[in-house]
Amino acid sequence: MKALEITPIEGKTLRVIMVEKEYSEPFWIAEPTNNHTPKNILSSRFKPSVAFCNFFEKLIDEVRPDFITEELGNRSPREFNETNILAQISEKAKIPFFAVDVDENARSYVATLIEEKRQLRDKILKALEELPENSAEKEYLIAYGQCLQQEIEELEREAKFSVRESWIAMGILEKARTMEKTDITCLHISSPEHVSGIKKLLESVDVDVETIQPTKKLIFTKEKAPMAEIEDLLKSVQIQVKPVIRTSSEEAPYILFFLDTDKRASPFDICMAYDAGFSVVVPYENVTTEEAKKIVQDAIFSRDPKGIKRTCFFIGGKDVEKAEEVLKVVRETMFPPFQANTIIDPAGAYTTAAAMVAKVEDAIAKAKLGNLKNKKVAVFGTGAVGRVAAILLAKLGCAVKIVSPNPDRKDGNEYISKLSALLRERYGVDVEGVFAPTPEKKVEVLNDADVILCASVAGVRIITKDILNSVKFVKIIADVNAVPPLGVEGMKLDDDMREFTSGIFGIGPLTIGRLKYKLEREILREARRNGKGTVYNYNYAMELARKILRGELQAAKLAVTVSYPPKERK
Ligand SMILES: NC(=O)c1ccc[n+]([C@@H]2O[C@H](COP(=O)([O-])OP(=O)(O)OC[C@H]3O[C@@H](n4cnc5c(N)ncnc54)[C@H](OP(=O)(O)O)[C@@H]3O)[C@@H](O)[C@H]2O)c1
Repeated sequence: MKALEITPIEGKTLRVIMVEKEYSEPFWIAEPTNNHTPKNILSSRFKPSVAFCNFFEKLIDEVRPDFITEELGNRSPREFNETNILAQISEKAKIPFFAVDVDENARSYVATLIEEKRQLRDKILKALEELPENSAEKEYLIAYGQCLQQEIEELEREAKFSVRESWIAMGILEKARTMEKTDITCLHISSPEHVSGIKKLLESVDVDVETIQPTKKLIFTKEKAPMAEIEDLLKSVQIQVKPVIRTSSEEAPYILFFLDTDKRASPFDICMAYDAGFSVVVPYENVTTEEAKKIVQDAIFSRDPKGIKRTCFFIGGKDVEKAEEVLKVVRETMFPPFQANTIIDPAGAYTTAAAMVAKVEDAIAKAKLGNLKNKKVAVFGTGAVGRVAAILLAKLGCAVKIVSPNPDRKDGNEYISKLSALLRERYGVDVEGVFAPTPEKKVEVLNDADVILCASVAGVRIITKDILNSVKFVKIIADVNAVPPLGVEGMKLDDDMREFTSGIFGIGPLTIGRLKYKLEREILREARRNGKGTVYNYNYAMELARKILRGELQAAKLAVTVSYPPKERK
């Protein structure tokens, strides 16, 4: 049996001109049982019209292809060659004409699979006639039958489109390989429903593809055609065939310009962007506000407003303030209708902070422990994640403390009060700053909080067992440091409100990390799909994280197995 394999043609260039025919060539893997008789000859004639044939002749004359291909469909090779008008036209023009289609062995293999399922389905249909209405047996058999029917239809669809189109593309490539020339042109006559699938497959192996859709129009050469006389009608009408030629891919690619203020553009965000469906990600490093302006100007004017909808800017880098300045310049450089979507997520901090706050909010509500907005929250860590978490919490209405736990800080008190002032000035939020480098100071902070978020540097333990043992009342602690040792002693990576110490419920780094991942992926997908010139910042991330948590469906939890006799419903 021949193997299905689509590989580039070494040492040759192939150009394929795909001509859309007027009908879809009849094809089925297993003959349809509900094959209705066609209504009239005009809508069911699987043969090229004289107009198409004339156009085809002219096209061959113009292009002088090296070979021509057409789908075989349900025709036998003999019918294809002897009764096919297109084969005759090609022969007259002395151009080789080949059938390309799914291999006979592959076709009969799929046909057998379908036939087995059909036989079982028919057996079920027959058995259903015998069973009493509304019986449990009948309901179960109907469910089995519907399942089978769905499988049959899926198999047929798969065979008709992805499998068959791959064979057709492979057939064209194979014929091209046998040609002696190195610059080859093929004319492929295709059913309308397969044009885009085959085009994509060929383009994936660097074949140049042009598509031609012949459009037809009736032209009356006399003022009024006397409808009574067919002879007159025939003489007074002409068909004008005009091709619509598409050379380049109709779809502009999705381009993401990644502006990173750090010296190395983050591979994490680059991979995420590709996985979210961007066709190209262009990373820029050490981006300053001046550079950002030039990059944006250069990028937006090269694309028309339609292309702008497929353009996105992503601002990254560890320094939040720098990233925000770049965002400001990027937005100021754009103007309608040249406004592309812009994501800002400095070193993943915005999505991490949003995921952390949303997860804690959700966990508190689900555990019926009240509402996050009425809680006192202490955020350990003054990096990007800690700062943004503190801003989001303060905006929610929480009483927030931001805590520097860094014992290496000589200027701790001064540093933290400056940070508190900066958060008030820049973000309009009231956040108390606390310097707590010692266990005693930490215990003090913990005892005065209901919820603790730990967003300190990776691989450094901030809260020990001893500290936790000195804590009174129930607390919820979330940690984002996934690098051992974790920020909180006794906590596990996957914790999701586990009571890991008496009265202390933990949310671990991986539980938050998974939400952060989904969040970033969704933001990127959304920014790719909706070219509305939106800014995706931490506020957007927070709303989206809540939405994800509300609608989270887990496949494993939803799976059921249905079997007869039915179990009693609880
Ligand atoms: N899951 C994810 O996708 C994801 C994404 C981003 C970040 N993260 C995690 O989130 C955490 C925070 O990241 P970040 O970028 O915001 O901040 P960061 O720059 O990594 O550091 C956070 C803070 O840790 C404090 N710190 C530094 N050395 C310390 C020490 N020896 N002892 C105690 N504290 C110390 C510093 O406090 P001072 O400012 O007071 O000096 C600093 O502000 C990290 O653990 C990171 O791995 C996770």
